[in-house]
Amino acid sequence: MPIFILFICQMSGYILAIESSCDDTSAAVIHNGKILANIVVTQQIHEQYGGVVPELASRDHQKNIVPVVMQALNHANIQKKQLAAVAYTKGPGLLGSLLVGSCFAKSLAQALELPVLEVNHMQAHILAHFIEEPVPKFPFLCLTVSGGHTQIVKVNSPVDMEVIGETQDDAVGEAFDKSAKLLGIQYPGGPMLDRIAKMGNPNRFVFPDVEMKGYNYSFSGIKTAILYFLQQNIQKDPTFVENNLADISASIQSCLVEILLKKLRRASRELHVNEIAIAGGVAANSWLRLKLDEESKKNSWSVYIPKLEYCTDNAAMVAMAAHFLYDNKSFGTLSSSPLPRWSLNC
Ligand code: KG4
Ligand code: ZN
Repeated sequence: MPIFILFICQMSGYILAIESSCDDTSAAVIHNGKILANIVVTQQIHEQYGGVVPELASRDHQKNIVPVVMQALNHANIQKKQLAAVAYTKGPGLLGSLLVGSCFAKSLAQALELPVLEVNHMQAHILAHFIEEPVPKFPFLCLTVSGGHTQIVKVNSPVDMEVIGETQDDAVGEAFDKSAKLLGIQYPGGPMLDRIAKMGNPNRFVFPDVEMKGYNYSFSGIKTAILYFLQQNIQKDPTFVENNLADISASIQSCLVEILLKKLRRASRELHVNEIAIAGGVAANSWLRLKLDEESKKNSWSVYIPKLEYCTDNAAMVAMAAHFLYDNKSFGTLSSSPLPRWSLNC
């Protein structure tokens, strides 16, 4: 009986999770796999620079982290002394940003004499699928698409993931953001381009795809093709972008999404996996969501798309990953350092 009580106490612990890998300061609380709070503060300072400035991001994390954590605890209606563990994003991400979250989490854990849980940001994006029903069945393929990554991951279990293909240069989020910048679309480029593209014709212009080996991707070629395409057309007509912005945006978006889907279709066919998930910031893209829905009907895929708030960076996904790590007794150490590059395969 006492052993049983001890087991229940361990399973029902509250875990505080902190995410600070880029420009969102976020804290969440999870209890028995259920998210009780998820506070996200997106830094506005980068807007005037048209992209994330790493030094400013870490300074803003320093300002935000205490109020964000306090808000998460208040929202979950718990006190620090009720916590069973503190989790944080150890990598990949911007070193300065990661340092703020990791130093804060480890200090808090040490002060409260709690274990720490070290979470891989990309694993967390994938495990965001377990926050709410319906959840994918193992094994599933996850197209993980963000500002820094583009990968197809074979997910065998919450703690066993294999990257089977990835970009060899730019991430697709970068391709969205850089294309938006070339078109003069204001920051944040990806979501704005998505919005403008809704009014355009996706078949009006075609941009070339670069053939890559296996399930790998490349997005630097299409970025250069877009640059030359714009330069040539602006030379002929200086108002070209202004007059065709929606069609150009829709065509770029359609080409980027088709590049993503081509490899995903192939991986699904060759590996005989029909459970398909998407994760990461670009999973918020409306055209990608629409096309995946069409693909699910054509290929008998079961497609899993997280809620918008769980696609972009948030601590709820870190909390979900921490929940699995805690169950697996995969605890971290106070002496470990953030890893700006941390592959899922390691
Ligand atoms: O996962 P995330 O929030 O941060 C990283 O870990 O990178 O992803 C951010 C990326 C940015 O490149 C952003 O432009 C892109 O996701 N993104 C979108 C959309 N929403 C966010 N790209 C295209 N369409 C969207 N609706
Ligand atoms: Zn992310």
